[in-house]
Amino acid sequence: MQSALDPHGAQARTIAHLFWGFVAVCSAVWVLVLIALGIALWRRRPARTDPLSVDSSAERRSLRAIGVCVTATALVMIIFTVTSFFSQRILLASPGASLEVKVRGHQWWWEVQYRDPQAGGVFTTANEIHIPVGQFVSILLDSDDVIHSFWVPSLTGKIDQIPGHENELQLIADRPGIYRGQCAEFCGQQHAKMGFLIIASPPDEFAAWADAQRHSAVSAPEPERQDGDRVFIGRGCALCHTIAGTGAGGVLGPDLTHVASRRTLAAGTVPLNPGNLASWIADPQHIKPGAQMPAMPLSGQDLSHLVAYLMGLK
Ligand code: CUA
Repeated sequence: MQSALDPHGAQARTIAHLFWGFVAVCSAVWVLVLIALGIALWRRRPARTDPLSVDSSAERRSLRAIGVCVTATALVMIIFTVTSFFSQRILLASPGASLEVKVRGHQWWWEVQYRDPQAGGVFTTANEIHIPVGQFVSILLDSDDVIHSFWVPSLTGKIDQIPGHENELQLIADRPGIYRGQCAEFCGQQHAKMGFLIIASPPDEFAAWADAQRHSAVSAPEPERQDGDRVFIGRGCALCHTIAGTGAGGVLGPDLTHVASRRTLAAGTVPLNPGNLASWIADPQHIKPGAQMPAMPLSGQDLSHLVAYLMGLK
């Protein structure tokens, strides 16, 4: 789900409350203004015969009405400002997180690194952020190239990802689910196809997932998958992508150690399945024009072995 009006976390609820409060007050003001306009049109006074004769008590009443309206407008503005200030404080508060995840924006995908105080506990993935439900998670944000913006409407507000400057956002998911996120700052040709998923699961399920991600890629027993490994290294994929536990250690593209455990391909652009993976490798520019990934001219057999190999990286 991806909707700021369907909140599933404390921060998103704060934003939704603020939004509905603003809508209610602004709607009331709009209705009152229209009623006043209607009355003014209805009770049109006849033109005065003598323009210099002024009804001083009517003038005083008008002045008082204007004064009341100006004061009410100022009050509403002040109340709006104060409530948004306090909502902002709730949004940017750091209640103490159980988990730290570093998310770096790239044109046009997300690098996700799980921090761990213990050596060997750190691992990297892409475009999919798993979190334990009911716990605050600290997301540390920056960018590799241009300014991006991290936004998961159902969980919290958006914040910019700036090269060379780290911003922090803490979020919490009330219940298990898949929450879609989207880059919210125009960052180039494929800005619209820079999506990601936050997958909130019960803490034990999350721990099992994290444990699996920490382990290197499982070596594939089938010969065609082993041949796929040869294609991956031989045709230059390894220059940009890492597959932990193999010779592939490139850092320009997403880490593919457990690529087959993800739900989507190309930052939330298409569902991950063998067909989409094959067409992505053969012609990425067709799916995502302008993407940094070059097309790979491979023979049919090499392509199918490569896809079998990658789909084995669970
Ligand atoms: Cu990244 Cu828009």
